[in-house]
Amino acid sequence: MLSLRAVAAPARRQFVAAAPRAVFSVTFQNQRFYSSKVAKFTGTKDASGNFPVSIIEGDGIGPEISQAVKDIFAAAKTPISWEPVDVTPRLVDGKTTIPPETIESIQRNKVALKGPLATPIGKGHVSLNLTLRRTFNLFANLRPCRSIAGYKTPYDNVDTVLIRENTEGEYSGIEHVVVDGVVQSIKLITREASERVLRFAFQQAQEIGRKKVRVVHKATIMKMSDGLFLNVAKDIAKEYPDIEFDAELLDNTCLKMTTDPTPYNDKVLVMPNLYGDILSDMCAGLIGGLGLTPSGNIGDECSIFEAVHGSAPDIAGQGLANPTALLLSSLMMLRHMELNEFADRIEKATFATLAEGKSLTGDLGGKAKTHEYAAAIISKL
Ligand code: IPM
Ligand code: MN
Repeated sequence: MLSLRAVAAPARRQFVAAAPRAVFSVTFQNQRFYSSKVAKFTGTKDASGNFPVSIIEGDGIGPEISQAVKDIFAAAKTPISWEPVDVTPRLVDGKTTIPPETIESIQRNKVALKGPLATPIGKGHVSLNLTLRRTFNLFANLRPCRSIAGYKTPYDNVDTVLIRENTEGEYSGIEHVVVDGVVQSIKLITREASERVLRFAFQQAQEIGRKKVRVVHKATIMKMSDGLFLNVAKDIAKEYPDIEFDAELLDNTCLKMTTDPTPYNDKVLVMPNLYGDILSDMCAGLIGGLGLTPSGNIGDECSIFEAVHGSAPDIAGQGLANPTALLLSSLMMLRHMELNEFADRIEKATFATLAEGKSLTGDLGGKAKTHEYAAAIISKL
């Protein structure tokens, strides 16, 4: 991949640190369904009877964790054919873009799976993650976090569902120097994008059987921008009389969630972009980190499912990476494609492997290599 990205790769590693493993109680978590009515999957099978899926393996550990997912999918005879695509950035008229072949592939297949892409800090090209979200208008980012049996964290029964506005807000990238030493950054909130993500949140609540939608905001301070988001939420809530709607200030949400996350188990949280970025990491922290959490970028035409953790260049190529986040994201993808039986089978095998604790990767306190963990899952299919 292009040196531009390699140079920019931050040496960060977002996987969880090793923590003592608990004696597990295998109360099997129910099926975790993440579906989407707004963004219904419209892809079609190819001549061989498989759904083609674009795959962006990503940087650093990306290829290794992608291989694990591919091996598990092949063993489960999942009707998918992978179409590898390249996202080496190009500057066109001063804007970061991705290769047109990649755009065409994702547009054709309507769905993609994506590994980690390194993001330059404080300079350089626009994050490719953002470029992808903007290119395909992936307006909602769905990030559920549920405790994993066998991996002990301070709380055992976390089950949060967070939806993040994914195209604007603090991520609009509109920044400029006013005079030397004074920089202005614009947080863009539009009624249109707010309506879209809020409607998705209510529909998601209906689909997963949650009766409450809560907007997380800071309209006490950002009276106009968050105020608009909140007001649109109040309007959209009227379209869903069966769902209870309320709102909470972001700082208060953080305080309450870290004190006791269980009151959030019956809600769908929805919020502007940056709040969702930060709060979703916080939720991930409650269950063991970004190495264990799935994520889906949902759009009306295409959707891209991705691992949210970094590319971990420090351990790349050594077979040490944990592919769980990408695997769980790929299961979210299968459900989006209505391939639920395959998702259920792979999910059951994955959680059984985690609960058993014999073949865990180093970040979870085990000694298994990436492929050994994948093999353990395959043996349970
Ligand atoms: C995420 C990531 C991205 C974001 C980065 C990599 C650009 O942190 O998906 O949460 O900030 O949205
Ligand atoms: Mn993030």
